[in-house]
Amino acid sequence: MTTIDEIMGAAPVIPVLILDGSIDPAALAETLVSNGLPVIEVTLRTSHALDAIHAMARVPGAIVGAGTVVNREQLAQAQDAGATFIVAPGLTEGLSRAVLESGLAYLPGVSSAGDVMRGLDLGLDRFKFFPAVASGGLPALKSLSEPFASVRFCPTGGITPENAPDWLAHPAVRCVGGTWIVPKGAADLTQVAQLARAATVLRDRQQWRTQEDSNLWPLPSEGNALSS
Ligand code: 3PG
Repeated sequence: MTTIDEIMGAAPVIPVLILDGSIDPAALAETLVSNGLPVIEVTLRTSHALDAIHAMARVPGAIVGAGTVVNREQLAQAQDAGATFIVAPGLTEGLSRAVLESGLAYLPGVSSAGDVMRGLDLGLDRFKFFPAVASGGLPALKSLSEPFASVRFCPTGGITPENAPDWLAHPAVRCVGGTWIVPKGAADLTQVAQLARAATVLRDRQQWRTQEDSNLWPLPSEGNALSS
């Protein structure tokens, strides 16, 4: 099983995909993996999503999750399609318990201290901070992280290549998510490759890595945490 910490530590950016059928999913996953972004979130917002998860999950090196999961039925569909992890826009007790029972890694959305506390009650401490910019941006994340020292976030919603380095510099931020890597209607894998490569260098991760981080997800020079 791939843990949520391994997933959040595998790359600085999780591409959030809203697929409209304009691009071959397996080729897209190969492009993302080979250009340094192995973690891929396919949102269940279009009719193409489940087939895409099925195809992408077979691509060597790809860690494919389902996003915008809001109920148990979608959880079951995503698991059947081969998703490794589940992302939800918010945090509810019912869905959270179901995902925990499924054994899949889980990244529920939070945007308030109450959300975080409900997650902690369920044994969760890794969250999507969503919608990141609309919820107050980096000042809100800073305030939210202070009472919860063990909690780590993946801000998503309004993240851009321009503001991502600021988010990634915060020690409570493991990675960010965003749709900019695969723009709507994208069909040009060369452009996706360029955007993916640029995303991999949005953070100098050495700046804030602790020994705990190095143990959880060694950099290439330290070994490969996801080699198996
Ligand atoms: C999500 O579901 O994570 C967001 O829709 C992504 O938001 P963005 O388009 O601002 O990256």
